[in-house]
Amino acid sequence: MADVVLGIETSCDETSAAVLVRDRSRNRPELAGLVILSQDVHQVFGGVVPELASRAHLRAIGPVVDRALAEAGLPLEAVDAIAVTAGPGLLGALLVGVCYGKALAAAGGKNLIGVHHIEGHLFAAALEDSDLAPPFVGLIVSGGHTLLLDVPEWGRYRLLGETLDDAAGEAFDKVGSMLGLGFPGGPAIERLAAQGRDRFKFPRPMINEGLDFSFSGLKTAVLYAVRDSKDLEADKADLAHSFQAAAFDVLMAKAVAALDHTGYNTVVLGGGVACSRTLARLMSERLKPHARVAVASPRLNADNAAMIARAGWFHVERGETSDHYLDAHPNMPLPGLEPATRSPAPRAT
Ligand code: KG4
Ligand code: ZN
Repeated sequence: MADVVLGIETSCDETSAAVLVRDRSRNRPELAGLVILSQDVHQVFGGVVPELASRAHLRAIGPVVDRALAEAGLPLEAVDAIAVTAGPGLLGALLVGVCYGKALAAAGGKNLIGVHHIEGHLFAAALEDSDLAPPFVGLIVSGGHTLLLDVPEWGRYRLLGETLDDAAGEAFDKVGSMLGLGFPGGPAIERLAAQGRDRFKFPRPMINEGLDFSFSGLKTAVLYAVRDSKDLEADKADLAHSFQAAAFDVLMAKAVAALDHTGYNTVVLGGGVACSRTLARLMSERLKPHARVAVASPRLNADNAAMIARAGWFHVERGETSDHYLDAHPNMPLPGLEPATRSPAPRAT
């Protein structure tokens, strides 16, 4: 058991630390401090440069952890356990957090728990909705992953579907760069799309074919439309809107199909793409009145250490800890993943 968990996240280009403290009256974790430092150096290159990310994490990790503790008003001595992202992600970036977390744990005699980044995203909604409980369908949409999970209980996951090519966020980033919107593309596309309409009617790949996803054909369709545009400035908002509408239609159709397949009535949406208020609104409208969407506020859906601390909290409560051999794993498998019941027969949505 732990009353104070320090979370550390360095898997990609955010250096983040968070402090979760047990609210004794309600016996649940409350977020007491959270610092997220986004590395802007990558904007120059239009994508994350791994070596630059590691170096920036190294410079930032100490001050970011200190600041999160200061926000919580707690000294390091008060921390019982340290939860750190151990994978998946960029090896050099992960190593900074893992080494820092291990050193703090070893020096202070604290528990250590290595956390899977995607399990962290799945726990994000639980930070603000403490009553959120399985069973539910988990839809994690980030820059690196698009995963549809059957979650019968916390810590047990069955893969229902995943992307066969690009992740949803990756498609947003690539389309963002085609439209000259900078990196990352998602937030800029969402803003621009608000001024456009679905004029291009892009394909919705695999929308009625099982629970796997494919986004590369949609991306190519946008590329052709950009290439064929006579006036890109004038078409931009409609291109952004049309792309976003196609991507979100697919995500929503798969969520509905997964609800049908499992018989559950809750979808937990997480990952960077879930920062989109548009997606959260559209999905909740689409699922009403039969099912609901649980989604955290944008700050907790982008990469952050609060979600890592929350997933770590769960494991520590179950008596699970890592030892000092904890290592960074760029392709870490999701813990608790059970044999799949994948891609049921296609259905019309
Ligand atoms: O989870 P995340 O912060 O990092 C990874 O673990 O990959 O996800 C980042 C992704 C980027 O691809 C970014 O474009 C996307 O999330 N994203 C969005 C929005 N905000 C961030 N995509 C669509 N709409 C948004 N508002
Ligand atoms: Zn992420």
